[in-house]
Amino acid sequence: MPETSSSLPLAARVASLQPSATLAMVARVEALRAQGVEVLSLTAGEPDFTPPKAAEEAGIRAIREGRGRYTAGAGMAELRAAAARMIQREIGVEYAPEEVIVTTGGKLGINQALMALVEPGDRVLVPVPCWTSYPEMVRIAGGEPVLVPCDQGFLPQVEDLDRAAAGARVLLLNTPNNPTGVVYPAELCAEIGDWAQARGLAVISDEIYAALTYHGARHVSPIAASPGLRESAVWIGGMSKAYAMTGWRMGFLAAPRPLARAISSLQSQLASSPNAISQIASLAALERGDEEREAMRRAFEARCELVAGRLAAMTGVVCPRPQGAFYAFPNVSAFAGKTDPSTGRVVRNGDDLAEILLEADRVGVIGGGAFGAPECFRISFAAAEEVLERALERIGNRLESLR
Ligand SMILES: Cc1ncc(COP(=O)(O)O)c(C=O)c1O
Repeated sequence: MPETSSSLPLAARVASLQPSATLAMVARVEALRAQGVEVLSLTAGEPDFTPPKAAEEAGIRAIREGRGRYTAGAGMAELRAAAARMIQREIGVEYAPEEVIVTTGGKLGINQALMALVEPGDRVLVPVPCWTSYPEMVRIAGGEPVLVPCDQGFLPQVEDLDRAAAGARVLLLNTPNNPTGVVYPAELCAEIGDWAQARGLAVISDEIYAALTYHGARHVSPIAASPGLRESAVWIGGMSKAYAMTGWRMGFLAAPRPLARAISSLQSQLASSPNAISQIASLAALERGDEEREAMRRAFEARCELVAGRLAAMTGVVCPRPQGAFYAFPNVSAFAGKTDPSTGRVVRNGDDLAEILLEADRVGVIGGGAFGAPECFRISFAAAEEVLERALERIGNRLESLR
C-alpha cells in the first residue's frame, strides 16, 4: 500500500524517538539474507542456543493445560519467590517475593523503573559506552540522559560521575556490560554505590548478564557491594540472555517495597500481567535449568577466548579483553583517515568500518555510534565458532587492506 501523508500530530515523547540501532542492523542483515546474500552476522545480542528443556516442556504443558490466562499483575507468586531465591543465592541481596516483579523482558523493567523514578526534566546519569536503548528510555520517561564517558578501560569513574551529577536524580549502571564486555570490579561497585548514596541518587542496576562471566571474572552487584544501597536501588535481571529465552520476554525487577508496589501498579495499567506461559516455563528453567545454563556459559567462554585472541593479533586494534556478557568492543581509532581500496571510502570511525564490513565483506557488526562510542564497533560472540572464525578473518583482512 502506498504510504499516505497524515496530519496527525505526534506526541513529543515519540516525535523524535530513534528506533533501536541494533535491531535496525539485524533487520538489514536479514534483508540481505532474504535476497540470497550470505552474511556472517555478529550483530544480535541473542544466544544461538535453545532454552533449557525443562522450560520448553513446562511451556508446552502449560499451553495444553489451558494455563494461558492473566496472572497477578506483578507475576505469579511462585515465580516471584523463585526469583527472590535466585537473587539471594547469585547476587547476595535479600528481597521478599513481594519486592520482586516479573516484567516483560528486562527492557520493560528498566522502562518502568525509569517511569517510577524520573520527573519531567530530571537528569539521569548514563556511563558510556552504553546499551543503545538507555538514552531513549530515559527520554520516554521524560528525563534528560547525561552521558558520562568512561575513558579508563570502559569503567565509570566516580570523579567523572561527580562532575556530571548536578541536578541528577538517577544513575544507570550495567555490569557485565553491553557493549564492552567489561565486568565492574568489586571495589568500583562499592565506591560508586557509596557515592550514589551520599549524593542521594537512585540507582538502576542492570545485571541482565550477571550469570555470564568468563575466565575467573566474578559478577558483583553494586547493590551487594555498597551496604544500604538496596534501599535506593532497582535490580534488573531476567531469562533472556543466560537461559537463551529472548523471545519469551521474561525479566525480573527487584526494589524496596514502596517502589515495588508503585511499579506493580504501573505494570498492571500498562500490561495487565506478564505472559503466563513464559512465567511457567521460566519457573521450570530457574528450578531445573542451571546445568544447561552452565553449558551455554562455557560455550560463550570458549568463544570469548577465540574473539579476544584474534582481536589481540590485529595490529592497531585496541580492545579490553571481554570478561562477561557476549560482546567485544574494539577501538579502531588507529584506522581513522585511511581509505578502503575496494569501496573507495575513507574510514572515519567504527561506524564507517561497520558499513564497509557489511558492504564489502558481508560481515555484520554494529558501529559504536549506537552505543555512544563511534571510534569502536561491537562484535557479538553469540554466534557459532565457525562463523566467528570466518568473520574475524575477514575483519582482520579488511583492516590490513586499509591504506
Ligand atoms: C544491557 C541490556 N539490558 C537489558 C536488555 C534487555 O533484555 P530483554 O530481552 O530481557 O528485554 C538487554 C538486551 O539486549 C541488554 O543488552
